[in-house]
Amino acid sequence: SKVGILGVPFDKGQAKKGVGNGPSIIRELGLIERLEEIEGKLNIKDYGDVSYEIPQDLKTHSIPNMKEYEHITTCNHEVSKSVENILRDGRICVTLGGDHSLGVGTVDGHIKAKDENVCVLWVDAHADLNTNKTSSTGNVHGMPLALLAKELSDYWPYLPGMDWQKPIISLRNVAYIGLRSVDSYERLVIDKLGINAFGMEDIENYGISTVIDMALNRIDPDKDKSIHVSFDIDALDSLEAPSTGTSVRGGMTLREGIHLMEIIYRTGRLGAFDLVEVNPSLGSEQDVKRTVDAAIHIIAAGLGHSRRGLRPKNIETL
Ligand code: ARG
Ligand code: MN
Ligand code: MN
Ligand code: MN
Repeated sequence: SKVGILGVPFDKGQAKKGVGNGPSIIRELGLIERLEEIEGKLNIKDYGDVSYEIPQDLKTHSIPNMKEYEHITTCNHEVSKSVENILRDGRICVTLGGDHSLGVGTVDGHIKAKDENVCVLWVDAHADLNTNKTSSTGNVHGMPLALLAKELSDYWPYLPGMDWQKPIISLRNVAYIGLRSVDSYERLVIDKLGINAFGMEDIENYGISTVIDMALNRIDPDKDKSIHVSFDIDALDSLEAPSTGTSVRGGMTLREGIHLMEIIYRTGRLGAFDLVEVNPSLGSEQDVKRTVDAAIHIIAAGLGHSRRGLRPKNIETL
């Protein structure tokens, strides 16, 4: 299959420096080389990094409790266009973050390319479902799903320069996996709307395989949608992925993350995949290596890497 890699060196959705270097460290530590080893030979194209320039008329705008708003909307518009292009080239789009606010652009681009026939798996310790009225931080990486949700469009003020982005997805087509740090307004919205939310306790109770089956049955019952996986590296336990800005103990193991992505690969319907919130400025050098290595394992599993090893190239040699 054909794969497009897109870097989004964006860090303005949260306060910590360094997460913008996620794409470069993931490439440096060998992502593409690892993907090239996958059986069946992927056709991989690296589209480089997204860049953007804030238009003059947006520079004076600000939105209450929504930090760096003009960067968020301008960058995400470029992300959306790039993701849409990559998908229209017939490729699976793998986006390397950057902080999770970029999920607005990736999901938007995916939905535009696939005529809304998209479901979203949000793999995360957090729900990222705050609006500027409910957020206690003003950090937009805690808001992307609320910006995307049709059901929450009335809860936002007018957002200038955001007209490219329609509140475009119904939360009925979204499932969470790995939740364990949910703010109280997020909890309220999840309960009220009956959002498919599989937390760590569900992974404990049923195991990761069953949880993914349940999630996909809810959001893609006819098995005909393009699947968007937005994977926040903080879904993994702090011991597995220490170099991330809002780490939470008690998370998924790397094994569970790999297994999840192997199942997604086997559906044959992975359309777009975000790997976000790797911050190489946090933790020791060993922490950074461990975190990036986990990210690369997860991406490779989603694109067909098998833990059973490669088959011999020529069966006659057996
Ligand atoms: N819920 C918190 C907030 O609104 C944390 C969000 C963390 N998000 C993330 N993508 N890591 O700020
Ligand atoms: Mn998170
Ligand atoms: Mn446009
Ligand atoms: Mn997140």
